[in-house]
Amino acid sequence: MRAVLASHNKKKMKEMREILSQLGVEVVSQADVGVDLEPEETGTTFEENARIKAAAIMEATGLPAIADDSGLVVDALDGAPGVYSARYGGEGLDDTDRWKLLLKNMEGKTDRACRFVSVICCVLPNGEEVMSRGEVHGVVAQGPSGDGGFGYDPIFYLPERGCTMAQLSAEEKNAISHRGNALRAFREEWERRYGTDQ
Ligand code: IMP
Repeated sequence: MRAVLASHNKKKMKEMREILSQLGVEVVSQADVGVDLEPEETGTTFEENARIKAAAIMEATGLPAIADDSGLVVDALDGAPGVYSARYGGEGLDDTDRWKLLLKNMEGKTDRACRFVSVICCVLPNGEEVMSRGEVHGVVAQGPSGDGGFGYDPIFYLPERGCTMAQLSAEEKNAISHRGNALRAFREEWERRYGTDQ
C-alpha cells in the first residue's frame, strides 16, 4: 500500500517511516505529492486530531493517509500539555523553550509521573478508518539529558532504563516508545482486517 504521511514534523516522520516500512507500507510525504496542507487541530482528544489530519490529507490527495497525534500527559499538571504539547506556552517557542517551561511549571511538585501518548489514524479513500493508540510511562526529570529524539525527550526519564528518552538510539526509542507501540497495535489491527499482503 502507498500512503501519505500527514505530518510536517521531519523527526516524527522519520520514526513513522522506519516502523511503517516494516509493514510493507510505502510511505510518501505531503511534499512528495505536492500537498502543502496543515489542517487545524481543533479536536480535544488525540483521537479527534489524528482523524482530522488523516481525513484532510486523504481528501486532498485521494490516497490513503496516515497521521499521528501525540503528546506528553503530566498527572500533576492535570494532563497538560496533552493535545497542546506542540503549542505549549504559545507561539514563538521551540522544543527547548517548551520543556524548560514544563520544568518550571513542575517546580515543587512531588508527583512527576507522566506519559507519552500517540494515536495513529489511517483514513482510506473508501472512508474506512484504522486507529490505534500507544503509550509509554515515565517521570518528568529534574533537568535535561541526552540529545537524541525531539520534543520533550530530554526530560522524559525512564526509571527502568535509568536514562531519558533522548539518551536512547533511534532503534531503542522505537522499540519502547508510544509511537512504536501505537504502530505495532496499528499493524495488528490492519492485519486482522485486511490480511498481511496489502
Ligand atoms: P502533534 O504534531 O500535534 O502530534 O504534536 C506532537 C507534540 O508532542 C510534539 O511537537 C512534541 O512536542 C510532543 N511529542 C510527541 N511525540 C514525542 C516524542 O516522541 N518525543 C518528544 N516529544 C514528543
